[in-house]
Amino acid sequence: MKSIVIKQPNELVIEEREVPQPANGEVRVKVKLAGICGSDSHIYRGHNPFVKYPRVIGHEFFGVIDEVGEGVDKSRIGERVSVDPVISCGHCYSCLVGRPNVCTSLTVLGVHRDGGFSQYAVVPSKNAYVIPDEISDEFAVMIEPFTIAANATSHLKPTENDIVLIYGAGPMGLTSVQALKGVYNVKEVIVVDRIEERLNMAKISGADRVINNTSLSLKDELDKLNIKPTVIIDAACHPSILQEAISIASPAARILIMGFSSDACQITQQGITSKELSIFSSRLNANKFPVVIDWLKKKLIDPQKLITHQFDYMQVIQAIETFEKDQKQCCKVLLTIS
Ligand code: NAI
Ligand code: MN
Ligand code: ZN
Repeated sequence: MKSIVIKQPNELVIEEREVPQPANGEVRVKVKLAGICGSDSHIYRGHNPFVKYPRVIGHEFFGVIDEVGEGVDKSRIGERVSVDPVISCGHCYSCLVGRPNVCTSLTVLGVHRDGGFSQYAVVPSKNAYVIPDEISDEFAVMIEPFTIAANATSHLKPTENDIVLIYGAGPMGLTSVQALKGVYNVKEVIVVDRIEERLNMAKISGADRVINNTSLSLKDELDKLNIKPTVIIDAACHPSILQEAISIASPAARILIMGFSSDACQITQQGITSKELSIFSSRLNANKFPVVIDWLKKKLIDPQKLITHQFDYMQVIQAIETFEKDQKQCCKVLLTIS
């Protein structure tokens, strides 16, 4: 089989490997479609501190089960599946309280263990979620990015009274827009970014209002409009954003961050406590595949709006470079694997 391997930073090869045998409790997936995410590019460029090389990247993938290991029912062969990249131990504190995404021995497919940019991938049977016939292959491969929004919103518990402000109109901001409008039916979604084309994508995904903050003070602009966001999601992830979010938030608001920067950011107790703000963070997803599959069945979200490019996996370098360089036109880039 052929696998897309990052041998070391900036060295990507399409390597011939032996087709892997599924171990006890695992299934083998013949991969059909995979999505490129920022973290794949970060591993390729050597910007991910957790990864060990060589590594088969890819944590967003869909395919068909073609073999099962010991202990897995043979009837699973032939199932169309999307794979949850989060592998957890099942018995640490986080796992016991339903948060396997922060398991103390967390393993993420495509980061800590070989992932889905490959003709075949072996994964734990319970990570392979069967996809109902009414959900297309292209939608099935988009489940993982939407699980990030499902996880974030599970912390925030948005309601129809909420005015939500989202920083960043990249894939993460846009999946959140769709969930907030389509699933939670919040009162208003405002998206802030510096790229006009991306703000247009936010409107197409359902944003009620967009603000380009390249050359204006967001706080002044919101004051002028008399808007006090009651929920704020930072899907742009610059360390300076949290302080601004605290200053623009309504009393009793909830703020959620998803960034991994190790740079310090300055916030004050007064800013938070005087308005009794709640601050959440969200990482990957905690058992959210069934949630997003349900959203898709009910047509509450539309992944098609985010798919801008599709390449054959043999063109993976061109696909990743397009994804990295063309932020104006690019949102989700898919690889077809034959
Ligand atoms: P992206 O880079 O495509 O999008 C970020 C957007 O934020 C860009 O459009 C950029 O113009 C905008 N932006 C940057 N600084 C801004 C500012 N100060 N104000 C307004 N807009 C600003 O990235 P993507 O894929 O959407 O991911 C967003 C972030 O989420 C990344 O930092 C990524 O590391 C993080 N992430 C976190 C996950 C988690 O589970 N916690 C999962 C996936 C991504
Ligand atoms: Mn992803
Ligand atoms: Zn655990």
